[in-house]
Amino acid sequence: MPVTLTINGHSMHASARDGSLFDHAERLGVRVPTSCRKNGKCKECVVEVTRGGDLLAPRTDAERHLSGTFRLSCQTRVVADTGEVDCHTMRRGAMRIERAAAGLPLRGDITFDPCVTRDGADRILLDGVEIACSTAPIHGVAIDIGTTTVVVRLLNLETGALIADASFENPQRFGGSDVMSRIHYDTTVGQFLLQRTLAGYLTHAMESLPVDPQTIYEAVVVGNSTMRDIFFRHDVYPIGQTPYRSITEIEMAAGKRTTTSLTQTTAKSLLPIHPKARVYGLPIISGHLGADAAACMLAVDLAHEERLVAIMDIGTNTELIVGNRHRILAASCPAGPAFEGGSVSCGMPGLDGAIEDVAVDDSTGAFRFNVIGGGAPEGICGSGLVDLMSELLRTGRMNEFGRFEDGQQRITIDSARGIHFRESDVNELAQAKGANVAGLHVVFHTLGLPFDAIDVFYLAGGFGRRLKIEASKRIGLIPNLPNEKIVQVGNAAIEGACMALLSRAKRQELEHLVKRVEHCRLETHPQFFDFFVEGCQFKPVEAPHEETLTRSD
Ligand code: FES
Repeated sequence: MPVTLTINGHSMHASARDGSLFDHAERLGVRVPTSCRKNGKCKECVVEVTRGGDLLAPRTDAERHLSGTFRLSCQTRVVADTGEVDCHTMRRGAMRIERAAAGLPLRGDITFDPCVTRDGADRILLDGVEIACSTAPIHGVAIDIGTTTVVVRLLNLETGALIADASFENPQRFGGSDVMSRIHYDTTVGQFLLQRTLAGYLTHAMESLPVDPQTIYEAVVVGNSTMRDIFFRHDVYPIGQTPYRSITEIEMAAGKRTTTSLTQTTAKSLLPIHPKARVYGLPIISGHLGADAAACMLAVDLAHEERLVAIMDIGTNTELIVGNRHRILAASCPAGPAFEGGSVSCGMPGLDGAIEDVAVDDSTGAFRFNVIGGGAPEGICGSGLVDLMSELLRTGRMNEFGRFEDGQQRITIDSARGIHFRESDVNELAQAKGANVAGLHVVFHTLGLPFDAIDVFYLAGGFGRRLKIEASKRIGLIPNLPNEKIVQVGNAAIEGACMALLSRAKRQELEHLVKRVEHCRLETHPQFFDFFVEGCQFKPVEAPHEETLTRSD
C-alpha cells in the first residue's frame, strides 16, 4: 500500500520520487503560497502536518525557523512506503465571518470623503496628488488582521459600496497562537517571515476579489498592536515587555512622531495593489489596546455618543471600552485562548466540525448539539463551550465553582467521537472569564458607576456575535443586564476600518479620540485580584456593592 497523502482534504498516492509536498499539492489543484518558485527562500509555503509526520523526510536547513508540526511544503518529501499523511496549508477550512456588523448607530450615515478621488475622467488622486491615470473604477480595501482571523473588505471609493469580502485563518499560526508567541517569533527568527507569509495569503485573497487589484489605491489596516506592527514591519519587542508599548507610542512620547497611525508603500507591504497606493494603519490606543479597538470606537460613534456605552470584544486579549463623548476608559483583559478553542482539550476554532451550541435534554440528560457545517463533531468552539457550561449549571451537573457534582473528572459529550469536557477545561475557561470580569469591575470601579448605568452594551467580534445572551449571563461572562441593552454587533473593527477608508473626517476624529482614552491597567488596580477570583466563579455578574463604588480616579 503506497502512502496516501491528503492536502486540504484532497488525496493522492505519494512517494519521494514524485517530488515535494508542494509538487503533490499542485497536482491536486491545491494552491500553496509562494514567491520563490519552491527553492526554500520565501518561507511562504508552510503547511501543518496533522498526521504521518514521521513518514516525511527530516527538516532541511531552510526549515530551521519552523518547529512542531509545521513544514515548508517545497522542502518536504514523503520517504515512507506505506501509511497516511494529512496536512493543510495555513488557510484552514472556512472561518465563519459575519458579512456586516448589525445594530451600529452610524451605518450608511457618514460623510463620504475618501482620500482617493477622481478628477475628470481619468486622473486618480491620493490626497489631491495625481497617482494614476485610469478610467476604471477606484477601489480600496479594509483589512482586519486578527491573531486568529483575517478579514478583507473591498469597497468602491467612488460610491462607498461594499463589493466583496474575504476571510481566512491567520497563517501566522506557525509563529504561535497568541500575541506573545508571535512577538517572540518575530523578534528571534526575524526576516519578516510572519509579515511575508501573511502578505502571501492577503495576495491570494485580493487576487480572488472580483476586481483587478491594480484598481485598489488605498488599504486601511486594523488589528491589535502586535498584528498591526508586524504587518508594518515595526519592531514589536517593546509590546511584549513591561510597560507593553508599541514602538509608535515610544516614538510619540519622544516627540519623534505625532500619531501612532502608520503609512507604508505598496512595495514594502508586498500587497498586489496599485504601486502608488497607500497602506494606512489606524492609530492604536496602547500596546494592548490596538487599532482594532480604536476602530470599534468609530463604529459605535463614541465621539458623539451621549449615552453610556460599553464595547467588549472577547478574544485572547479581551478589549473593553466604556464611556461616551465626555469620558472614555478602556482596559485590556488577558483572557488567553480558551474561548477561541485553545488550551481546552476538546476546544477548536469556529470552523466546520465545531459544536457551536449545546443543550441538555431535561428528560434524558442527553446532550443535543449543532455542528458547524452539519457534519460529524470534531471539537467544541467558544460559543459551544459557553452553552455547555450554562447547561451544566442549569441542570446542576456543575456548581458555581466549576466542579462537576458527580465527582468525575470529565463529562462525555459525544462518545463516538471521543469528545469529552474535563474539569481542567473548566479551570481554563474560569480564568479566561475571570480576566474579563475583572476588567469590567476595574473600569466601572474607576468610573464610580454600577453596571446598570450602562445604556448599551455592545458585544463586538465574531465570537460575541454568536454567543447566546442568556447562557453568557448565566455563567457570568457578561454583566447581568436587561437583554434590550445588549447589542451583538459582530466585527465592529472592520466596520470602523471601512469608515476610515471612506471618510477623512472619521480618520481625523479617531486620531483625536485615541488620545482621550484613559487606559485602566488591571494589574495595578488594588482590587484586581479580588475581582479576578470572583470573576472565576460561574454565576451572574452583578454590579459591585455600593461600598466599592468610590471613585478611584
Ligand atoms: S515555496 Fe518558497 S520557501 Fe517553499
